[in-house]
Amino acid sequence: MRFLVTMPFKFLFTEKRKDILRSGIFVLIIVYFLVRPCWGGKIELNPQKYVGSKTCITCHEAQFQGWKTTLHSKMEQIPIKEGPNRNVLGDFASQNPVLTFSLEDVDMLVGSRFKQRYAKKIGDDYYMLPAQWNVNTNKWVAYKPKNDWWAAEGIFPKAWDSRPTSKLCEGCHTTGFNIETKIPVERNITCESCHGPGDLHVQNGGDGFIINPVNLSHERSNMICFQCHMSGRPPKGKFENYAWPVGFKPGDDLNKSWIYARPTGANSYEMWTDGSAHKNRVQGNTFIQSKMFRKGLRCFTCHDPHGSRFTSFTVKSAENNSLCLICHGENTTQAVFKDDISEHTHHEANSPGSICIECHMPQTGKNALKWDSRDHSFKFISPLMTIKNGTPNGCSSCHRDKNAEWAFKTVTNWTFH
Ligand code: HEC
Ligand code: HEC
Ligand code: HEC
Ligand code: HEC
Ligand code: HEC
Ligand code: HEC
Ligand code: HEC
Ligand code: HEC
Repeated sequence: MRFLVTMPFKFLFTEKRKDILRSGIFVLIIVYFLVRPCWGGKIELNPQKYVGSKTCITCHEAQFQGWKTTLHSKMEQIPIKEGPNRNVLGDFASQNPVLTFSLEDVDMLVGSRFKQRYAKKIGDDYYMLPAQWNVNTNKWVAYKPKNDWWAAEGIFPKAWDSRPTSKLCEGCHTTGFNIETKIPVERNITCESCHGPGDLHVQNGGDGFIINPVNLSHERSNMICFQCHMSGRPPKGKFENYAWPVGFKPGDDLNKSWIYARPTGANSYEMWTDGSAHKNRVQGNTFIQSKMFRKGLRCFTCHDPHGSRFTSFTVKSAENNSLCLICHGENTTQAVFKDDISEHTHHEANSPGSICIECHMPQTGKNALKWDSRDHSFKFISPLMTIKNGTPNGCSSCHRDKNAEWAFKTVTNWTFH
């Protein structure tokens, strides 16, 4: 220790200027390594604790009731197997051979909108049973992941009961998941997933100590949603076998705990060659390619996490264009037409062919089915991409009696005002 401290000073007095500079840097490096553990320790001394969403009701009733209407509040449910409140969607009387387990095996339900999966508790962990119920087709299909990196690389063996949800799922489906005890503070995506742990906020009667995403930078606020809606994998190290960003809290830099999947220039598991969504939960990966992301929009510019009466809790309806017209309507800075929307869409104003999201957020990704998940890159996917790579395009999803060549030729002849 004494040697380390005195040595650079000896240099200081005996060597030339070049060396003085060098020894100065040397001192700085030593000082950095000496104080580094203290910085880390300081944060550890005062960890914020999670208190649970029920604690927030007293003072934020409106946000609580609104959030309850979103599926964030229903991701993981205790099965109610009979009666009017039955939340088990699958038909367990089915003779379908992929259904290899019975309702008695089911200890937890995962999902309800596109598909429902079923978990069995073994020891202190949950494991996903090998069939899922597709909601829109009312059908059982096998559930045997093979394309996720942790399956493709054989990190977890194929058997369903050797793939624990504590490593592969829970960080994105629960709040405050403890990897030691394998117990979350709450099942579901609750207030503190997006606002951070709230004990000091509550102790102080609501005065500070809580994150309001709207006050964070554009980047950091989007990262709150990205922690779950961005496909990727963790960096090498202690948590490299977890499928979610362990340790991330709202306000943090997600890049420290998560490596984003990027378009590879070919069709990949996550994205098509052109970067559009090839599966669900790649909203982050695709949105960051958009001009809207670069111009400062956030996920919650369009989605209200405390609920709305529209599909996917959008702040206004996308099905009648109100959402997009906030910024792209006539007389707005981003206007796409002067007098009538048909100038842009080349369809009658009241035609389904004039709904922005049908051309700019077509369903290109697989959630339960090919294709039921909307792209968030917002670009118009040219029918040429369909011809080249198979990417679904908006035109052909409506004009099923015509081919992509027809759509490409037609759209190439359109002029925009
Ligand atoms: C999926 C993320 C998410 C969840 C879950 C969530 N919030 Fe929020 N909350 C946000 C965002 C984003 C904002 C900023 C919204 C804005 O101003 O555009 C916000 C803002 C707020 C505000 C500031 C006032 C307001 O309404 O803008 C309060 C209070 C609040 N949330 C409470 C809660 C409570 C209580 C819960 C749980 C019942 C909750 N939130 C759940 C993301 C979330
Ligand atoms: C990195 C975060 C993350 C991980 C890890 C993760 N999920 Fe999800 N999951 C999500 C998000 C986000 C959605 C919603 C995305 C969407 O609709 O595009 C979702 C949706 C789902 C749905 C569909 C829900 C519905 O209502 O239709 C099911 C089922 C599901 N996940 C099961 C699993 C299982 C099982 C695992 C573990 C093997 C897992 N997920 C791992 C983030 C994650
Ligand atoms: C004892 C009452 C009380 C409780 C309990 C409480 N809050 Fe608050 N909260 C307040 C008050 C007061 C404010 C400041 C006034 C306002 O903006 O409504 C506030 C503000 C907020 C804000 C906005 C902060 C900002 O900087 O803009 C968020 C987000 C929030 N609370 C979330 C929560 C969450 C999440 C919980 C549960 C973990 C919670 N609150 C529990 C009283 C409370
Ligand atoms: C802790 C993980 C997590 C965080 C953080 C998170 N989500 Fe989600 N989100 C999910 C999961 C899991 C689902 C699927 C829920 C289901 O279908 O039951 C989902 C579903 C959704 C849906 C469709 C829900 C519906 O009711 O149809 C939207 C929209 C959404 N998230 C937007 C957001 C936005 C915007 C943010 C950030 C403000 C955010 N999410 C933050 C995990 C998360
Ligand atoms: C809060 C304002 C706002 C809302 C709401 C909005 N946009 Fe945008 N949009 C912008 C801005 C700003 C740009 C960037 C314009 C530029 O720099 O050229 C943009 C650009 C675009 C682009 C250009 C391509 C790209 O890479 O992003 C498309 C396409 C687009 N928006 C579609 C939509 C659709 C579809 C909706 C509705 C789901 C929508 N926008 C809602 C503000 C908005
Ligand atoms: C019938 C399909 C269709 C509909 C519906 C449609 N668009 Fe477009 N949009 C296009 C095409 C095609 C382009 C040109 C794309 C290109 O040049 O790469 C385009 C271009 C754009 C651009 C400029 C893109 C850029 O890169 O600068 C914006 C912004 C845009 N649309 C927004 C909207 C909005 C907002 C709506 C709803 C009011 C809408 N579009 C409805 C097909 C459509
Ligand atoms: C410019 C507006 C806009 C932005 C920004 C935006 N979304 Fe969406 N999102 C939509 C619209 C519109 C829908 C479809 C709503 C409908 O079906 O009516 C949607 C649907 C969804 C869904 C439901 C799944 C599906 O396939 O339909 C999820 C989950 C979601 N968005 C998450 C996110 C997340 C996370 C972000 C940020 C990475 C984000 N969104 C950014 C407009 C937006
Ligand atoms: C959401 C559904 C939808 C989408 C997306 C859509 N269309 Fe249409 N399109 C229609 C309907 C419905 C009509 C019937 C006339 C009308 O309502 O304008 C139509 C009519 C047309 C017509 C004139 C009649 C015909 O069949 O020859 C052409 C040309 C056309 N669409 C081309 C396109 C092209 C090119 C795209 C992609 C850029 C596209 N459409 C996207 C629904 C759609």
